[in-house]
Amino acid sequence: MLKHLMSPTKIGNLELRNRIAMAPMGVEIVEADGIIREPTLRYYEERARGGAALLISENTAACYPRGANSAHEIGVSSDLFLPGLTALAEVVHRHDSKIAIQLAHHGKVARLDTQQGRELLMPSQPRPQPRSTEPLSLSREEIQLMAKAAGGKKPVIHEATPLDLEQLAEDFADAALRAKRAGIDAVEIHGAHGYIFSEFHSPAWNFREDEYGGSVGNRSRLLCNVIRACREKVGPDFPLWARIDAVEFDVPDGITLEDAARRAELLEEAGVDAVHVSAYANPLGPGFTKAPIVHYMAGFVDFAAKIKEHVSVPVITAGRIEPDEGNRIIGEGKVDIISMGRKLLADPDLPKKLAEGRQNEIRPCIYCYICVAQPFFDRKVRCAVNPAAANEIEYADLLRSKTTNAKRVLVVGGGPSGLEAASIAAMRGHDVILCEKSASLGGTLRFAALPYEPNENLLNYLETRIGKLPVDIRLQTEVTPKFIKELAPDVVLAAVGPRREKSRIPGADRDHVFDGDTLRDLLTGEGSTEVEAQLSLTARLAVRAGRLTGVTNSPSKLRQASKAYMPMGKRIAVIGGGLVGAELAEFMAERGREVHVFEEGAVLALEMAHPRRWRVLYDLREAGVSLYSETRVLEIKDKTIRFEPTSQDKPAQEIEIDGVVIATGLIANSETVEILREAGPPVVVIGDAGGVGYLDGAIEDGFKAAIALN
Ligand SMILES: Cc1cc2nc3c(=O)[nH]c(=O)nc-3n(C[C@H](O)[C@H](O)[C@H](O)COP(=O)(O)O)c2cc1C
Ligand code: SF4
Repeated sequence: MLKHLMSPTKIGNLELRNRIAMAPMGVEIVEADGIIREPTLRYYEERARGGAALLISENTAACYPRGANSAHEIGVSSDLFLPGLTALAEVVHRHDSKIAIQLAHHGKVARLDTQQGRELLMPSQPRPQPRSTEPLSLSREEIQLMAKAAGGKKPVIHEATPLDLEQLAEDFADAALRAKRAGIDAVEIHGAHGYIFSEFHSPAWNFREDEYGGSVGNRSRLLCNVIRACREKVGPDFPLWARIDAVEFDVPDGITLEDAARRAELLEEAGVDAVHVSAYANPLGPGFTKAPIVHYMAGFVDFAAKIKEHVSVPVITAGRIEPDEGNRIIGEGKVDIISMGRKLLADPDLPKKLAEGRQNEIRPCIYCYICVAQPFFDRKVRCAVNPAAANEIEYADLLRSKTTNAKRVLVVGGGPSGLEAASIAAMRGHDVILCEKSASLGGTLRFAALPYEPNENLLNYLETRIGKLPVDIRLQTEVTPKFIKELAPDVVLAAVGPRREKSRIPGADRDHVFDGDTLRDLLTGEGSTEVEAQLSLTARLAVRAGRLTGVTNSPSKLRQASKAYMPMGKRIAVIGGGLVGAELAEFMAERGREVHVFEEGAVLALEMAHPRRWRVLYDLREAGVSLYSETRVLEIKDKTIRFEPTSQDKPAQEIEIDGVVIATGLIANSETVEILREAGPPVVVIGDAGGVGYLDGAIEDGFKAAIALN
């Protein structure tokens, strides 16, 4: 039991049963009128039921539709929104949780203003920002979607007048009072993330010469005025606080920690009951994964601890904080409350599982950034590991209830899709047999766990979950039509994985060329003698030793061991710069290899959600990996590789290499599926067997197929 994290606390007079708050997340479930209805209620209800002491709502528009980021943002600007807000408070209270509404005005990114032809409110006319030297790494489709979400027009900036700012404070105060009338427990003013208050705070955006610009006191004046105006309306006892940026990363003249600490003091004087610490960076590019959606573990904790030295009210912070870490930093007095965002999208029951000592049953977030990629396109959030997230209205009750039409279900394949399908089907009360032809569960996920550690957490979770369910798991079992006939299932879920096409690149059959399958076999110890024959004697012995000692069964042990020894030469060419190629390149570069990645398409790592893509490509470049997009490999020779650009009229080049990994060529596996169909029972194809959909696609497919069994 994590005694500090799970201990009760208070914000003002708001009593909290533990120190876990759900961080605000713009999930955009509401329709384009800003009104809370059943789908939003169910999303929040699941998280209240899951045991978080406090839910901080997604950003809501205090002046809706003005200042909103999307038409799908919750509105709080008139009594039209009151019934929805009241219902929200009720469903959360039903589960002894508390709810704060995050009130926002999005300033320069109030996309709805541009969409609807209004000017954007900002402290000053912006000055040209230094251009990032990083390539944008977005597909044409992504750029079009973002442009559409941003209103499809050039934004017009309106420099806020003192009258505008008085009106803003009044609007926020009205919205805060409305929240209170609705029975909402508290209000958080969104003073971070480059929105209006953050813009006023930042010397990079605020060039005013009046009382709202210049000194930190002046730049904090607007937010302090808003706090005072809200306090006056909601009274002294209603919990009210602000979220602020501790820093603006990589922004010349951006917010500094010293500034933020002083701002926190001023906010306390203005009457806040807590300070919620976040941070900001340029949102287009790798900066976005520094802040606000931080990719480093516990990325903002030191900032929060510094700010805590300056205030006497509780300090909340977010940012990839694992429960053990959260417990530790609360114990050390660095912060008071941990707000968790992505973890509670992935598993709303996380706090309950911690309280019940079931930490190993928590479905882990894999930090893939798929969720937060959606708002860029003005789409509802989705989660790679939890297909029910933001679809609670459809699935939450089903997942808690048993089927009245139990079927005998044969799942063929123990990769992520098969594991998800088998587990959900068993949870729903079906009679499930899962057959896997190899000696271990996990399929492609086991291999994907090697270069990317969070995938191993997911693998462990999927294995633990199925291990606790009444699923008949048969490893090293090849499924044939005869086998199916004998087993006589009502339905077969074919999670047989993709098929790999042989590469047509001349030289692809050389001994120093591996494809994803042979490399996986080699590294995970499932190697055939054929694969081993490609290796030197020393390499063969090392692989066998790994297998005998069990090292090759465990991704984490293998990850460690491969730092000391990897049966691949010094200079590696990776052909195919998609998700798999990019992850492998990172893995090899971390192991001291000189890596060159060749991709025919214009955008590398296209299958990654773009924020993660930005981070991975940036890290690869920093690690010295050579990335070639729009480049075709012409030939693999003994010691060299020859390639040419596809989009420019430039001559072919040749570079020296010692080993090649081909990370392309996965296709749907219709041949295996056809064989399964011969047996007679209906076959439903799931996961990569039906077309490569990566981890999120595989899990979603497995989940939906299991639900569709009824
Ligand atoms: C899908 C998504 C939407 C978010 N929307 C908001 C928001 O509306 N308001 C806000 O202050 N922060 C927002 N954030 C940032 C989170 O509150 C949190 O600070 C961040 O995700 C880091 O915490 P985590 O590592 O626990 O996810 C969002 C994050 C995600 C993943
Ligand atoms: S989509 Fe990915 S990053 Fe977001 S919550 Fe789910 S697993 Fe985590």
